Amino acid sequence: MTGQPCLHLGQILTFDGDPFRDGLDVVRVDSAGAILVEGGTIRSVGAADTLLAAHPAVAVVDHGDALVMPGFVDAHVHYPQTAMIASWGKRLIDWLNTYTFPEEMRFADPDYAAAIAARYLDLILSNGTTTACSFATIHPASVDAFFEAAAARTMRVAAGKTCMDRNAPDGLRDTARSAYDDSRALLTRWHGVGRAEYVITPRFSPTSTPEQLEALGALWAEHPSCLMQTHLSEQTDEIDWVMALFPDMRDYLDTYERFGLLGARGLYGHAIHLHPRERDRLRETGAALIHCPTSNTFIGSGLFDMDGLTRAGHRVGLATDTGGGSSFSMLRTMAAAYEIAQLRGRSLHPAELLWLATQGSATALHMQDRIGALAPGREADFIVLDLASTPAIAQRSARARDIWEAVFPTIMMGDDRAILATYVAGKRHPRPGESA
Ligand code: GUN
Ligand code: ZN
Repeated sequence: MTGQPCLHLGQILTFDGDPFRDGLDVVRVDSAGAILVEGGTIRSVGAADTLLAAHPAVAVVDHGDALVMPGFVDAHVHYPQTAMIASWGKRLIDWLNTYTFPEEMRFADPDYAAAIAARYLDLILSNGTTTACSFATIHPASVDAFFEAAAARTMRVAAGKTCMDRNAPDGLRDTARSAYDDSRALLTRWHGVGRAEYVITPRFSPTSTPEQLEALGALWAEHPSCLMQTHLSEQTDEIDWVMALFPDMRDYLDTYERFGLLGARGLYGHAIHLHPRERDRLRETGAALIHCPTSNTFIGSGLFDMDGLTRAGHRVGLATDTGGGSSFSMLRTMAAAYEIAQLRGRSLHPAELLWLATQGSATALHMQDRIGALAPGREADFIVLDLASTPAIAQRSARARDIWEAVFPTIMMGDDRAILATYVAGKRHPRPGESA
């Protein structure tokens, strides 16, 4: 029940800082820990013995030696691309034209949008993701569908109408004026309602005229509590195209910066091929770079500089980028982030990966005080992770000498079978096929 207090026992993962900034020791696992949840909120976190003694009458759920941790936070997704994930053989621009735009066209039908929104959210919940920040399509009803489906599941989500007024097919273009008007109407309807946050969403510079970018920059200035999301420097061909479309601009980031679309609440997906000026400006403004590792390998985009960017103090979130990304699972996404960092000579520690997939992404979304950590006062979005979910993982974790060796095989080889339970606002979400 959401309202009744409940004590969850297990191995409890907590953060006492940012492991990239403060060192690995700030990420802790209490092997005999507990969290007290009441009214959708985490009330206390501590040793199981202590909390059991302090709350003798409270209901108890014992998760044994499973890892109880914050729900995953996926900082960049396209829920409308759910049904065309894993489409073969194209690079970014051809992939958009061949697969993505035709699928997004179908969202002119609100019933289709509602069906895919429900399907997407159930898929991510069964993968342990409790918050996603999504692009919708140009259709305002596709935003309503997503927020309505999320509200039905009491999920904290962020999303916005994707704006495009050029270089997209008929039926998938708005205008500078309608993008502003529709986004503003949606923002008024949804931003801060329940657990919804509206995100101003120009798709990327190639599909927006300067007039549209300017209009959305003005909207953001009028509503500075909103996030703004877009794409930046994903593929080199894309960058060449941007420079041809905007010959007066210094670089790709400039096409956003000049129109008021650079700021601390800005989320820049991919951000792989950055020039020094772009890195400097992104850091100075406190903007968030969203790493989408399965997408970057699947579409062939390049290797994100996790080490250099985190050392320089950039805000970095982690994301699946479905359906450019090839998985709904943040476990698979952490594995891909590990592999990409390896290719660049840096071995990301399991503590860093878990932080990126939860508190790191929550921080990118400016939601770190609400979600992404097990701490008193945070919303009770958490998951129970089986560290021996398959025979292959079990035989490896049986050899583990410490908790990080026990967790790492699940990060590298785990999938939705590792997610024993997903709790949203304190309430367990039924697994597929299970009644509520
Ligand atoms: N750039 C512009 N639109 C998209 C999209 O839908 N997916 C990815 N990966 N990159 C984009
Ligand atoms: Zn994207």
